[in-house]
Amino acid sequence: MAKYRIACLPGDGIGKDVMDAAMLVLEAVNLDAEYINGDVGWEFWKQEGNPLPDRTIELLKSTDCCLFGAITSKPKEEAVKELSPLLRDKGLIYYSPIVRLRQTLKLRTNMRPCKAYPGNPLNYRDDVDLIIFRENTEGLYSGVEFHPLPVEVKDALLMHPKMKSFLDVDLNDMALSCRIFTRQACQSILRAAFEYAKKYKKPSVTVVEKPNVIRETSGLMIREARELAKEYPEIELWEANVDAMCMWLLKNPQNYSVLAASNMFGDIISDLSAQLVGGLGFACSANIGDGYALFEPTHGSAPKYAGQYKVNPIAMLLSVKLMLEYIGEGKVASRLENSIASVLREGKVKTYDLGGKNTTLEVAEEVIRKVKD
Ligand code: NAI
Ligand code: MG
Repeated sequence: MAKYRIACLPGDGIGKDVMDAAMLVLEAVNLDAEYINGDVGWEFWKQEGNPLPDRTIELLKSTDCCLFGAITSKPKEEAVKELSPLLRDKGLIYYSPIVRLRQTLKLRTNMRPCKAYPGNPLNYRDDVDLIIFRENTEGLYSGVEFHPLPVEVKDALLMHPKMKSFLDVDLNDMALSCRIFTRQACQSILRAAFEYAKKYKKPSVTVVEKPNVIRETSGLMIREARELAKEYPEIELWEANVDAMCMWLLKNPQNYSVLAASNMFGDIISDLSAQLVGGLGFACSANIGDGYALFEPTHGSAPKYAGQYKVNPIAMLLSVKLMLEYIGEGKVASRLENSIASVLREGKVKTYDLGGKNTTLEVAEEVIRKVKD
């Protein structure tokens, strides 16, 4: 029996292209693992009315971790139109499978490293090396949403004096998405950020919220951060408002090392940060819970490039590196990262985003040559 059982969910579009690249690399490093493919994505929404079939969740539960490609998500009405005719009147609602996986498997911590590798012509600066810890299961993405607003919900909200300004708005003309923070989730993401800073001797943790305006939710996060920071006297706690942070990240990204944020703010600053180090072709991530983790490039399915083996596999290969670290294969992970860095430094084999003409798989093969060197 293999030492590791790894679920592979390629998903849609370029998710499949980059998963093929990942498999080439994993085979080349001779990891003692069994890879089991699972169903997820648009095809399963259209045919079965569920983009994340129960059998896939069961499969994941029988594995050590999961490697995920990308999925296509579309807004509510468009999604229903694409359902197979037999399913169309059943009141099915499309939910993003990746968001559901994070919530179902309680993958609370989303880790998104953004590191500038020397030689990458897309680096904004060569000295960016930061990592974002994004709360992954609640906040504005908790999924507690209403439209139209049920009268009971409106009545309950009227307990709040500020709600009076919406008194005359028709229930049909009001939509509500709840930003729910629990103390436990705030503590959990902050703990992950501080522990990482401690382990890798990073000087600061920056909490990115907006407590001056969003007083209760962002306020809870900041208050918990101040409390937790007392346990880590060697690490400075910095506080930044999310809007200002977008400016600082463009102005002085080299000043930051570890950032912590709630779900949506973390989502936004991680795309911004990804662009500082080469864009979506470089943005890797880990979704970590208690005893399980899922690794994915943060890009989507890029339908216009699907199946063309044109996109950059590095975001996926760096996600593989995070996966190798997670399962305890630190040495293989370092070898893989060094090989990726070496391919970038040489700049000979590269995909279109780097101004090259090589395919996804050619880049993977070049990385493999370095791994074997
Ligand atoms: P996207 O990330 O799929 O692509 C946007 C653009 O970024 C592409 O057109 C391409 O120019 C570039 N790009 C993305 N990955 C690249 C790579 N590896 N190498 C080089 N260039 C790359 O975002 P978009 O177009 O907004 O969304 C497409 C679909 O993906 C939507 O259905 C969206 O909902 C979904 N999506 C899924 C995600 C996931 O699976 N976690 C995350 C983001 C979007
Ligand atoms: Mg995003």
